[in-house]
Amino acid sequence: MASPTIVASIAALTLATWAVWRRFFTRPANFPPGPWGLPIVGNLHQIPQGLPFLAFDGWAKKWGPIVGFKLGSQNAVALHDAALVHELIVKKATVFSARPPRYVAQEHVIPEGKHIHPVFMNNDYAMRLRAVTKDYLSGAGLFKLAPMAKAIGMRLVYDIYQSDGDWADDLAQWAITTPVALMTGAPVKAFGDNFTHDYHQMTIVFEEIMVSGAADIIPFLRWVPAVLSDWKRRAPSIRKAVLQAYDTLMSVAKIEHGGSFRGLIPALLSQSADPATAPDLRMSETEIKIMMGGLLDAGFASTVATFETIVLALTKHPNVLRKVQAEIDEVLGAGDEVLLPEHIDRARLPYLHACVMEVLRWHAPTPIPLPREVEADVEVRGYRIPKGTTVMTNVWTIQRDPEFYDDPESFIPERYLRNPLGIKDGTSTQNRKPLYTFGFGRRECPGKDFFFQQMEITMAQLIWAFDFVPTGPLDTDDRTGFVFGVASRPNPLNMKFIPRRSPDTLLAEKRKADIALDKILGF
Ligand code: HEM
Repeated sequence: MASPTIVASIAALTLATWAVWRRFFTRPANFPPGPWGLPIVGNLHQIPQGLPFLAFDGWAKKWGPIVGFKLGSQNAVALHDAALVHELIVKKATVFSARPPRYVAQEHVIPEGKHIHPVFMNNDYAMRLRAVTKDYLSGAGLFKLAPMAKAIGMRLVYDIYQSDGDWADDLAQWAITTPVALMTGAPVKAFGDNFTHDYHQMTIVFEEIMVSGAADIIPFLRWVPAVLSDWKRRAPSIRKAVLQAYDTLMSVAKIEHGGSFRGLIPALLSQSADPATAPDLRMSETEIKIMMGGLLDAGFASTVATFETIVLALTKHPNVLRKVQAEIDEVLGAGDEVLLPEHIDRARLPYLHACVMEVLRWHAPTPIPLPREVEADVEVRGYRIPKGTTVMTNVWTIQRDPEFYDDPESFIPERYLRNPLGIKDGTSTQNRKPLYTFGFGRRECPGKDFFFQQMEITMAQLIWAFDFVPTGPLDTDDRTGFVFGVASRPNPLNMKFIPRRSPDTLLAEKRKADIALDKILGF
């Protein structure tokens, strides 16, 4: 007869094997249907890096609009239907508003800000961020930023005019200048010559480590020694670069620059020092620094990517460019010597707005927005999504659904003139959003209005100033024409800007912009 020790060992081994089996191989009871995966990796090997939305789209065609799968041992679902987004993420906001953990970024890059940094902050900080930024990112406060956006946009126009066709650094400078001015109240030159370049490089490596994060998903990779682990070797230098950028932001914000505009960081520092401020609006200097640094990170890559995609779309579709040029000339002035009006009224440029909306539908820079984590078990359409499941939404599929959009693969801004939701006549408008690109529900992008104001003012100036002329093939195919990171951006563009205005007119506008910016932000 077997000894009790052998029986106990066999029982323990069986139990452990069963626990491992359950965790890595089985799907929870009643889990939404989806593809079978492999031990350890789950379905990771079936998701091509950079094109997850295409893999998910294929799964949805086979398994339905709610697909269950495994990221390592982690349960995950992907939603492919706008009604489901409303039913779950919007209506059940109390359980669908958390973000899943990001082990590498949270534990190795900025552990001191693991619940504060906007890309992975918890719900408490998400609500504080909205409260403290509302006077800058929306409503009347945002409107007050329009003259600054116009001056910074004109500087970009002039930089492009003076460039030899390589305007990538000028674009990065533009995308950084407005948000850092908003945060610090300082002109970008106060940050030193290398800030834009160093910050841009930092976002590239930070993004790489965020999207390649296998160690976020497969826990045992966390214990692999640095000599065999790329992310572990790189994390310390990325951490240094991130903190350096955020420290610079804070130190520049503390200096008085003599302009008329008061930045968000100085406002937050004095608000936090004031005992009369409600406790939930008071933050430490570290909290402010990481929240503001992360705000810059959250908007930078997506703004650059969208700018490039708008330029691609308008160059590829000269009929649309001509139509939007006609609208802009009519509102801003057509003659060669005409100067830009002091105030650019976006409400009088509906076709320009439709073009920006259509770019964001057609090639969303965020085809799969930041994921959510479910905080309680949820029943939906006969399935069960257990607590802790990662939830992703395939915006790419939703925004190309032929049931809602005529000819969804084509770039047709007129769809947003015909219908504010951009959808076909006769389709249901109930709970429908015009765009899913900025996310939804409680954690929807708080920078959306800021983005539209800055982008539409700058695009109006750019289209007023230049023709967009192709210099080679323009690839708009998702598989070959775009690079996917945190934001999807087109490959380098085969196009050039040809001025439509005289050098004197452009120079006069640039001088006006410099004078305006010196008044707003100081020297
Ligand atoms: C084309 C430009 C932009 C796009 C496409 C975009 C898209 C997104 C998306 C999809 C999310 C996740 C939403 C969700 O989970 O439902 C997000 C979150 C966020 N965005 Fe944007 N964004 C853009 C520009 C900006 C700008 C300019 C700012 C800052 C001024 C900004 C700040 C943020 C912040 C702070 C979050 C985190 C919100 C939270 O987790 O509660 N974004 N954005």
